[in-house]
Amino acid sequence: MATIVFSMVIVHLRSLHITKALPGQVHWQRPDEGWICLNTDGVVSKLNGFGSVGGVFRTHDGDWILGFNKSVGITQPLQSELWAILTGLQLARDNGYERLMVQSDNLEAITRLNASTADSDVNALVRAITRLRSAGWVTMFRWIPREANKLADAMAKLEASYDLSFFVVPPASLQSLIMSGISTLVYWTFRISLIREKKRHLKCMDHLK
Ligand SMILES: *[C@@H]1O[C@H](CO)[C@@H](O)[C@H](O)[C@H]1NC(C)=O
Ligand SMILES: *[C@@H]1O[C@H](CO)[C@@H](O)[C@H](O)[C@H]1NC(C)=O
Repeated sequence: MATIVFSMVIVHLRSLHITKALPGQVHWQRPDEGWICLNTDGVVSKLNGFGSVGGVFRTHDGDWILGFNKSVGITQPLQSELWAILTGLQLARDNGYERLMVQSDNLEAITRLNASTADSDVNALVRAITRLRSAGWVTMFRWIPREANKLADAMAKLEASYDLSFFVVPPASLQSLIMSGISTLVYWTFRISLIREKKRHLKCMDHLK
């Protein structure tokens, strides 16, 4: 994972423009300080029924950390949405995030995931997500209006292939949707502290064995 991210940095690192949101727009809803926010979206093509998922991780200041997109084959809208969340959670775990707020504009997905019976839901994806949530970190799931989830929607609608693609900076085509630009220094500081944090965590786990 780290290797992929680092090589992408070299390819994609470039300065970004800061775009102000227009008045009256529904804004992205920032999490509390110290939380990382993941916006996810799953879309299904009306033409062929193929789904693709996308997501964006941001700091509480709105700085871009990582984006991803992926194809999920023929599927239904709810399934596609759940795939987006599961893929995002797996990435978050790989990156050692400890407090994660997940925002999706699919009310059914969030309602089912929030339910106290989620661990025995009939849907296997709901169960898989719930299992992952209970693995020693803090996650919160929140429904948000579609207009506040534009970036994740755009990520899911990027031209699809089956590989999971990572974006350490926003794709150029999405820059107009971004409210605050990433500062390279902030990104690297953050990234390095996350890697340290993860190492520390792994060490702790070794001690517990
Ligand atoms: C889900 O739970 C979170 C708290 O963990 C809450 O903020 C949110 O409003 C809930 N959303 C729905 C749709 O139930
Ligand atoms: C992700 O987006 C990139 C850039 O548009 C595209 O080349 C790639 O095929 C997409 N991948 C998926 C899985 O959608």
